[in-house]
Formats: sequence, structure tokens, C-alpha cells
Amino acid sequence: MSVTVRVPAKVNVQLAVGAARPDGFHDLANVFLAVGLHDEVTVTPADELRVTCAGPDADQVPLDRTNLAARAALALAQRHGLAGPEAAVHIHIAKDIPVAGGMAGGSADGAGALLACDTLWGTRASREELLDICAGLGSDVPFSLVGGAALGTGRGERLRTLDVGGTFHWVFAMAGRGLSTPAVFREFDRLAQGLDVPEPVASRELLDALAKGDPDALAAAVSNDLQPAALSLFPELADTLAAGRAAGALAALVSGSGPTTAFLAREAESAAEVAEALRASGTCRTVRTASGPVPGATVVTPGAAA
Ligand code: C5P
Repeated sequence: MSVTVRVPAKVNVQLAVGAARPDGFHDLANVFLAVGLHDEVTVTPADELRVTCAGPDADQVPLDRTNLAARAALALAQRHGLAGPEAAVHIHIAKDIPVAGGMAGGSADGAGALLACDTLWGTRASREELLDICAGLGSDVPFSLVGGAALGTGRGERLRTLDVGGTFHWVFAMAGRGLSTPAVFREFDRLAQGLDVPEPVASRELLDALAKGDPDALAAAVSNDLQPAALSLFPELADTLAAGRAAGALAALVSGSGPTTAFLAREAESAAEVAEALRASGTCRTVRTASGPVPGATVVTPGAAA
């Protein structure tokens, strides 16, 4: 018997970053939108914990215990006192979320494996407990579980669900190489040296634009405080952003810590045009379109305990 969970990618429509905290993390006002690119995580009882992955970027996915999906299974088993064969699962990730950075692909697999194991094992963890385990795995993991749209505060893990009044159409351009999230935050700190970094706050205009489902208003309000740091480490991303803008995108920004870049379009047709122009521009590795909001991690095949 197996359980499969479908879990979406995200884009950050606002990422306001505060000064470094004593623990090295940064307080954020992080507005997440889940978009329709999905991984599917399937868990099956096995002799030992094992991770496999299939998909276009599968060779870039670690299959050891650094994989958030493996860590999620171990964390749930430990909390519920499951050990040995009881907690041994084969986790298979059917990966469609680009392994590029900035779209929470690893976080999605963590949230997906957690929900899948909870269903398979019948551990019936409360929503609160699942969110707590997610927060222990990484700052973006709780949002992968919840999906839709949410404001993340603290280091991004404390979520408030947001109302969204329509569907937003996006184009994503994947870069030819990666960017390390800690390195981007360190570059943010370097660029902020000697400056007064304000408390991160969610933009009223941005929350209103989401609530109205108004792409023009959203385009005017999107922002990412990590973008200068990402561009400083990866200057060629400026060419990708310029190519998307020239193709008529309403807004162009780095997604999260990058290097994936995100382009907002007014409707699906104009998104397809921007995608085509980006493909032709030669400024990125691959291009995908997706719209959101979409739901968070969802069980798509019922397990014995579901
Ligand atoms: O929480 P997560 O494992 O995704 O964070 C990866 C890294 O990103 C952290 O080790 C830290 O360097 C940086 N980070 C941060 N402030 C946050 C979230 C992440 O400095 N709020």
C-alpha cells in the first residue's frame, strides 16, 4: 500500500527582510503564493528509509538524509515513537518543480513526505503538530503544507492565511546555475552594512491587490529585498529580468533568494507570449508558466489509514 501527496511550488510576491538576528536568521514579512507546478511524493512501506527521485532535474536532488523528505519522515517517526520497520519507508519524489532555487521545491518535498507518512502510518498528527514539524525542517516548509496565499513572519514560518480574489498568471525562468540561500542572506547583510535596516512589514497595497485579484495593482506592489543581493552574486539575472520586461511582463522579480526569476502577466495568453520571448532570449535555462493560488499539500491516493 502507498500514499501519494501532491504539493505545489511557491513564488514570493513580497519578501521584506529585517536585520540579522542573534541566531543568524532574519525576521521577514514574506508573502507566499502557491503556484501550479507540483511534485508528487509517494511513500511505501520498505525495509529501510530510502529516497528516489524521477523527473527532468532528478540528478540534482540529494537522496541521502539531507533531503527534507527523509528528514520529515524521521521527525514524525521520532515524535510518535516509531522505530525500525514501523518507520521504514521508500519515499519516491516525482519532481516537476524546477530544482533551481527560489520555488521551494525541497520544502515542498518535506511537507509532502510529512503528510504522506502521517497518512500511511495513521499517526493522525494535528495540523498544529504538522506545522511545528515543518517549521523545524525549514522556514518555507510550513507554507508548502498550507498553500494558497499566506503572510509569513518570524523567519517566515509563522503563517497567516491571506484572501485572494482571483488567479494570477506567472512565468518562471530557471537559471543555468544555482545560488545558495545562506550566501544570498550573507550578501544581503554585507550590502546592508552601515545602513539602518527597517522592520519588515507587509505592504498594504500588496495585500489589497491580492484580495482584489488585480494583476496591475499586484505588479505595482511586488518587491524582494533579497533581489539586490541575488543580482550582486549573479549579475546575469538582470538580463533575464530585462528580457521578461521587454516581452511585456507586468512585473519582473527574483523569486525568494533566487536564482529563479518570476514574471507576472495579465492573463494566460500574455504569460505564454512572455514565456516564448524568454525562451528565445537565450538568458535562461528553461521557462515554465503556472498560475496561483493553488492548494497546499494534498493526499491524492488514500492510504489504509486515510
Ligand atoms: O530555514 P531554511 O533552512 O530554509 O534557511 C536556510 C538559510 O537561509 C538559513 O540557514 C539562513 O542562512 C537563511 N535564512 C535567514 N533568515 C530567514 C530564513 C533563512 O537568514 N528568515
